Amino acid sequence: MTTTPSATAAAPSALPAEQPVDPALWWRQAVVYQVYPRSFADADGDGTGDLAGVTSRVPHLERLGVDAVWLSPFYPSALADGGYDVDDYRDVDPRLGTLEDFDRMVAALHAAGIRLIVDIVPNHSSDRHAWFRAALAAGPGSPERERYVFRRGLGADGAQPPTDWLSIFGGPSWEPVGDGDWYLHNFAPEQPDWNWDHPDVRADFRRTLRFWADRGVDGFRIDVAHFLTKDLTGVLPTQAELEATQDLTDGAHPFNDRDDVHDVYREWRAVFDEYDPPRMAVAEAWVPAHRRPAYASAEGLGQAFNFDLLVAEFDAAAFRRVVEENLLLAADAGSSSTWVLSNHDVVRHASRYGLPAGTPRIPWLLSQGTDPAPDLVRGVRRARAATAFVLALPGSTYVYQGEELGLPEVADLPDAVLQDPTWLRSRGADKGRDGCRVPLPWTRDGDSLGFGPEGGRPAHLPQPASFAELAVDVQEADPASTLAFYREALARRAGLQTVEELEFLDAPEGVVAFRRPGGWVCVTNFTTAPVPLPAGRVVLSSSGRPPGEGLTDVPAETTVWLTPVEPADAVATGAGGATGR
Ligand code: GLC
Repeated sequence: MTTTPSATAAAPSALPAEQPVDPALWWRQAVVYQVYPRSFADADGDGTGDLAGVTSRVPHLERLGVDAVWLSPFYPSALADGGYDVDDYRDVDPRLGTLEDFDRMVAALHAAGIRLIVDIVPNHSSDRHAWFRAALAAGPGSPERERYVFRRGLGADGAQPPTDWLSIFGGPSWEPVGDGDWYLHNFAPEQPDWNWDHPDVRADFRRTLRFWADRGVDGFRIDVAHFLTKDLTGVLPTQAELEATQDLTDGAHPFNDRDDVHDVYREWRAVFDEYDPPRMAVAEAWVPAHRRPAYASAEGLGQAFNFDLLVAEFDAAAFRRVVEENLLLAADAGSSSTWVLSNHDVVRHASRYGLPAGTPRIPWLLSQGTDPAPDLVRGVRRARAATAFVLALPGSTYVYQGEELGLPEVADLPDAVLQDPTWLRSRGADKGRDGCRVPLPWTRDGDSLGFGPEGGRPAHLPQPASFAELAVDVQEADPASTLAFYREALARRAGLQTVEELEFLDAPEGVVAFRRPGGWVCVTNFTTAPVPLPAGRVVLSSSGRPPGEGLTDVPAETTVWLTPVEPADAVATGAGGATGR
């Protein structure tokens, strides 16, 4: 029986019973938990997280209720870019374990009903990859150099780079190798770009996909999916021309979002479809919205991230616009939408939402997170509201490790411990992404707060004292904790999940309300004052108040989920008339 006073007698149809999901389509509305393995759990005590650590924490993931794990790179790597500089695509970094540890992890995840997505980094290898070493050794003009993007330097002695292009991490995009040749690296110098015109490169990546699919991997997250193919023939534009005149919408840029990149993904689709169920893939493609469906098409990768909520303010109109646009784009592609509030590349959303609107990231990080000081209570309140909002949407939600604990960005890491190439390459002009990669606190006490075993080496990025009270064991004991809220939300969501449709409901300014088929209603109050609660039975409130306990309003900066009231409840509460918005 509900105690919600605004219950209506005109109850919508009952919620559908749990619908069987076609095993080939499990990913369409999945909750996927991103593990950044070096910062998740350290089983061997060397200060760096590892695969045995992931295995040991499968019960946490199971209890959380996620459908899948996306594992960021765990391959052998010198860590010039947190593992996105891959030495060998078909092995495990010895500091993280072995292939047998990988198999044990897959078995443990699968036994818990959790699927696994691994990260594939196809735009660049590391400079320690066997083929790059061979290219360096073989010299200019050799077939070995053809697998990467080598060009002669300009000037009589080849001492000038082929172009003045700038890399994404800062500094030039070309690196000289001492014999008149230069190689292209769109990211760090330790990340040489592959030549995707080369059949060896294409064949080797298909082999890598099969290697992991054969080991039981269920899908792939494709790093920088919008790069890969290049056309560097003819006269190359300057950096200024690239920025000013290169059209990023016509698919003919020298290396960014080219139309021919989709030939690669069509080949990969054939590989994915060799498996039953077919392996899924999701593209990390930072492209204009109208270019995204191509990545998400069923002939290509099948799904693409949209990062629109990473840059949206906590604002009703902004959130609604993002949802409307992305549901259309996903429908265009025949895919489902993705929703992302945090990942390993951005400031954690509990901190973002505690800052005044429009706070620029770089100066804030350079002020060690003090100017302005975030209101973390508010940040977490809004973060929980935003999480409940996205979890109610059609499509899949990607959760970044630690957001279930409401972890803030660690903005005051000392310079000496910073690892991110954006910090090093920008010579301190950008503090980089280490603040969201600090190891998780599992226990309130103990060395590295349970990240590693007692007596082990300190965590590779130091945890702030404030992490102790946010530890998993502290939050497990508190029914009002963010962890308890995530568990409740994911469990509810699993029971309410329905076909991929949504209908917006009328709502006052500053409020977004929508209904899913079967009558699951989500109302988010983005304002700082309570608003009246619509009709229905409250089954979740992001403000942590237990459902059904006399809620009369949607509190400030809170999301509430409601389900239809059964007629018996309506009679019992004496409520009459439809009061739904
Ligand atoms: C992607 C990854 C990021 C990495 C970059 C280069 O954007 O998410 O962490 O630095 O690719 O591989």
